[in-house]
Amino acid sequence: MSASIDAAQVAKAFEAAYGTAPDGVWSAPGRVNLIGEHTDYNEGYVLPFAIDRAAAVAIRLRGDTTARLVSSYGNQGVVTVDLDTLSRDTMSGWTAYPLGVVWVMRQLGITIGGFDLYLQSTVPSGAGLSSSAAIECAVATAFNELASAGLGLNELVLVGQRAENEVVGAPTGILDQSASLLSTDGHAVFLDCRTQESKLVPLDLAAAGLLILVVDTKVSHSHATGGYSARRASCELGAEVLGVRALRDVAAAELPEAAGLLDEETFRRVRHIVTENQRVLDTVAVLDDAGPAAIGALLTASHASMRDDFEISCAELDLAVDKALAHGALGARMTGGGFGGSAIALIPAAAEEQVRAAVVHAFAEAGFGVPDIFAVSPAPGARRIH
Ligand code: GLA
Repeated sequence: MSASIDAAQVAKAFEAAYGTAPDGVWSAPGRVNLIGEHTDYNEGYVLPFAIDRAAAVAIRLRGDTTARLVSSYGNQGVVTVDLDTLSRDTMSGWTAYPLGVVWVMRQLGITIGGFDLYLQSTVPSGAGLSSSAAIECAVATAFNELASAGLGLNELVLVGQRAENEVVGAPTGILDQSASLLSTDGHAVFLDCRTQESKLVPLDLAAAGLLILVVDTKVSHSHATGGYSARRASCELGAEVLGVRALRDVAAAELPEAAGLLDEETFRRVRHIVTENQRVLDTVAVLDDAGPAAIGALLTASHASMRDDFEISCAELDLAVDKALAHGALGARMTGGGFGGSAIALIPAAAEEQVRAAVVHAFAEAGFGVPDIFAVSPAPGARRIH
């Protein structure tokens, strides 16, 4: 799969499907989270960046109330719905992402009539790289312009999150949509998830002779079921017992006292969130003082915390991290919600071949599937591309 989106080709594919040119093409990227995992719904800090893999939508307004949707994947042909009968229960499959966004925007009182839409994406799905947020943010950006809605970026973040929470049914935070909408080339986004205040942090890996490799383990996950919501529930329980609004309000120095108030498992969940928030702050400070070569130990400590305290890693992710570290990575960690998906490794550019070979070899030896390994660097956020 080619990584970059070809805007003219997306417009052509729209024309092939519908017989006319689109009004425009909009794209929004997937992301890797450099550090700050499961901190978003605890009102804490995150530090993601957009990657050069994106979803693109070509759209043409119709002037009636019919929506037709086609994607380059999904094998469903044209999906046709009447927008006036759109409800949360009638959206399913891949169309729940674009239609979910339209539903939320209409709930906000924004007038969106009928349209034809063609979707293409180069963000692998189920890989922990926010393929769903990429679709939501591309669609939200498109209709913000097409309907002259005038929403700001932080409002568009919340539109995408509501689609995910209320339509798709995944109880996720604002990390993914924020990364997709707020990123700019060459920077990571330092975000306070309580206030939605954000700051762009320069992340020039190439100048430091470094790169970040993504190891997509191909172990697929879904946040609409199982572990993700269980972790969220543990965090909410921890906050309630400790008498704070969110775990963001617990300081590292208060952990010994918290240990006496919480059951053993809830305490470890809480300790991950509290120490992870501190690691995000430390990473931002270290990037500023010493540059990216100095953040490796923080990334690796984050992985250990997710593996041992939050228990969201898996054998494939642990192996990718361990092998990368053993073959020259400065730091490595799983990225995203966990239970599968991808790991990232910060490596000297010169070590790329040896790290790739070591991970591929170790996966084969362990009897795991073949991982997909590729380099990423901070890319621009959602925008009109045609
Ligand atoms: C998923 C969710 C995000 C965030 C991460 C974990 O990507 O969509 O909101 O909670 O997991 O950091």
